[in-house]
Amino acid sequence: MAKETLQNLIPTGFLIISLTLILSFFSLATAYNNTNEYHFSKILSPKKLGLKREKLSHLHFYFHDIVSGKNPTAVRVAAAKTTDSSPTGFGFVAILDDPLTVGPEPTSKQVGRAQGIYASASQTDVGLLMVQNYVFTEGKYNGSTLSVLGRNAVLSAVRELPIVGGSGLFRFARGYAQARTHTFNLTSGDAVVEYNVYVFHY
Ligand SMILES: *[C@@H]1O[C@H](CO)[C@@H](O)[C@H](O)[C@H]1NC(C)=O
Ligand SMILES: *[C@@H]1O[C@H](CO)[C@@H](O)[C@H](O)[C@H]1NC(C)=O
Repeated sequence: MAKETLQNLIPTGFLIISLTLILSFFSLATAYNNTNEYHFSKILSPKKLGLKREKLSHLHFYFHDIVSGKNPTAVRVAAAKTTDSSPTGFGFVAILDDPLTVGPEPTSKQVGRAQGIYASASQTDVGLLMVQNYVFTEGKYNGSTLSVLGRNAVLSAVRELPIVGGSGLFRFARGYAQARTHTFNLTSGDAVVEYNVYVFHY
């Protein structure tokens, strides 16, 4: 009788240990799921975001940088004490909201604006740091933006500026812009710049 009880006890003890192990496994799994509910990070397939095929687009427009007159589109907001005596204007900062148009004439149809900052950041030539968003307002691109971060050696015939990102139709954008001065009025300082933008996006 006593022998039988001992034999019965062993499997019971084993069962209790197994149950404890199983339960603690479940509580661990629940804790793991709880932290996972917040989805701080997970791997996603591009299809889940509706990303199918990467496209290459070419955009062509003219950038009107108007610094003179009653309604300038680019305004100097800061400068160093030494800026005006610097041959390259080193140290000034300007904020712009420049129209982008399909043609070079000021009356040409507007397709967007270039909004941001340019700053004179070179002591050896006229070299601007360009930090700008192109905000498009036309057709399917209305509301989409491209972000530009680059160096603009304005006296060079062709300047290349990286496109570092975008929004809307230009999500995941990357590419480059080529800038060529179309006209520069030495008296007023106003400039019209032709832009060719090549950009990969979805
Ligand atoms: C662009 O979008 C804005 C805001 O959604 C709208 O008011 C405007 O009419 C649109 N312009 C064009 C040309 O579709
Ligand atoms: C250049 O700017 C000056 C001063 O605003 C203006 O009188 C002149 O007509 C402009 N020249 C051209 C070619 O637009």
